[in-house]
Amino acid sequence: MASRRPSSNLEMTSTIPNRRGSERRGSDRRGSGFSSRRPSIDPSRLIPMDKASHVGGTDDFNVVFIGAGNIMFGSDEGPWNHSFRFEHKLGLRLKVVALIDPAIERARAVLQKKCDSFVVSAYQGTRVFKTLDDFVKNMSSKDRPRAVIVGSPPMFRGTIQPGRDVEMQILKYFPGVAMFIEKPIATGPKAEIEQAFTIAKRISDSKAVCSVGYMLRYLKAVQMMKRIIEENDLTVMATIARYACAYEAIAKLDWWDKSKSAGPIVEQGTHFCDLSRYFGGEVDISSVTAHSLEWDENAGHLSKMSVDESQIAPENRIPRVTAATWKYDSGAVGSFTHVATLQGHNYSCELEVHADGYSLKLVNPYVQPMLYVRKPGDDHEQMITFPDDDPFFSEISNLIDIIEDIEEDPEAAQILSTYEDACKTYELTWAIREASERSRDAKLARSKAAAEAVKEST
Ligand SMILES: NC(=O)c1ccc[n+]([C@@H]2O[C@H](COP(=O)([O-])OP(=O)(O)OC[C@H]3O[C@@H](n4cnc5c(N)ncnc54)[C@H](O)[C@@H]3O)[C@@H](O)[C@H]2O)c1
Repeated sequence: MASRRPSSNLEMTSTIPNRRGSERRGSDRRGSGFSSRRPSIDPSRLIPMDKASHVGGTDDFNVVFIGAGNIMFGSDEGPWNHSFRFEHKLGLRLKVVALIDPAIERARAVLQKKCDSFVVSAYQGTRVFKTLDDFVKNMSSKDRPRAVIVGSPPMFRGTIQPGRDVEMQILKYFPGVAMFIEKPIATGPKAEIEQAFTIAKRISDSKAVCSVGYMLRYLKAVQMMKRIIEENDLTVMATIARYACAYEAIAKLDWWDKSKSAGPIVEQGTHFCDLSRYFGGEVDISSVTAHSLEWDENAGHLSKMSVDESQIAPENRIPRVTAATWKYDSGAVGSFTHVATLQGHNYSCELEVHADGYSLKLVNPYVQPMLYVRKPGDDHEQMITFPDDDPFFSEISNLIDIIEDIEEDPEAAQILSTYEDACKTYELTWAIREASERSRDAKLARSKAAAEAVKEST
């Protein structure tokens, strides 16, 4: 039988609960530790929602959602929808005590839909607030959350500055309470990265469970790649990542504006930069080089944009292509190319991981994940498919199991992306953006010098 840590309200106060056996066995499992080991999960344990049973117990599991947008409540853009996964994992235990969003009407509208459906029990007591402060001021002890799920835009978090410091607010108001933070951890100016690392340290010191939404790590295919590497004691020699997004489907003006979203590498390519790091290890940030194809270059024209780019200042328009390479601390080499070139809806993304005798190729992880494996002794690739895999469910399911401290099998649940790890991915994406801007500036300077030389000679 699985045993759970009792969840009395007392435990949600400022004291950190006593450590149990499973925590001692591996604090990195909880997502708050600074461990060099990159955790993995047995792929056979990653099961889709319809095959998973609700977590046990009968007591209420209070949750606060921050952000009432697409990631939290779903949209046509993709399969994400955290509320849906929480409902399935927690069943009747789920009580969303508050929904925080300055867009009150949007929050009320999504709640109304929930209350009109069979999951009403989770939402009938949900109160809407514009800020976390407002919730705390109006909160009774029975409303204390066991987890705070942050799906607000990254420009409002990841720093220690008032108004953009939701993690620090959570740590202050609810010490020890679990957090889930969406990727990327921030999109502010590069100079603020240190503030994100400060938050990582505070989370780690607090011992709070914290998971960041790099859900591709929870793909069955990704965990199978990990398993092959671990079982064969392989050393990764190269990671080769390619991310082709379907730009036609991206109708959010902010996404096309570097001053708002920090650009396609920081905001979107981050998933594949993160996966590259998951396999390649720490990156030597000083080694990062990159080139870009910009919107105003001959080859940079896009014919089917769904937004009016003229509303964005020219200097804030995003590149159409960014290609980067870097060295890992191990000596291995990483490369990543992001292109905003596809029309239609589906993205086309691939990640190759190479080691002596082995090639592991992850194809189409967003739509229909496939893994191509080539091993010593056979020149042919074996193709493996993963029908019904749901990494969004797996990341939530693992988070809840860790919070509940299910001890049936302490190896089963893992937080695969800690806040500190996510900070390092954020740092890599900024390094790529900056490297591409440096090479663009250098090219412009060369063109200008050449033009001036021609002018002088005439
Ligand atoms: N892992 C994935 O595949 C995936 C998919 C989609 C979105 N995301 C991430 O989720 C985050 C949110 O994206 P989205 O698509 O839901 O955006 P969205 O614009 O649909 O929703 C964001 C919501 O947050 C609200 N908001 C703004 N400021 C806030 C604040 N200070 N506090 C609370 N709420 C605030 C907005 O009013 C809006 O309702 C982003 O970081 C995005 O990258 C991840």
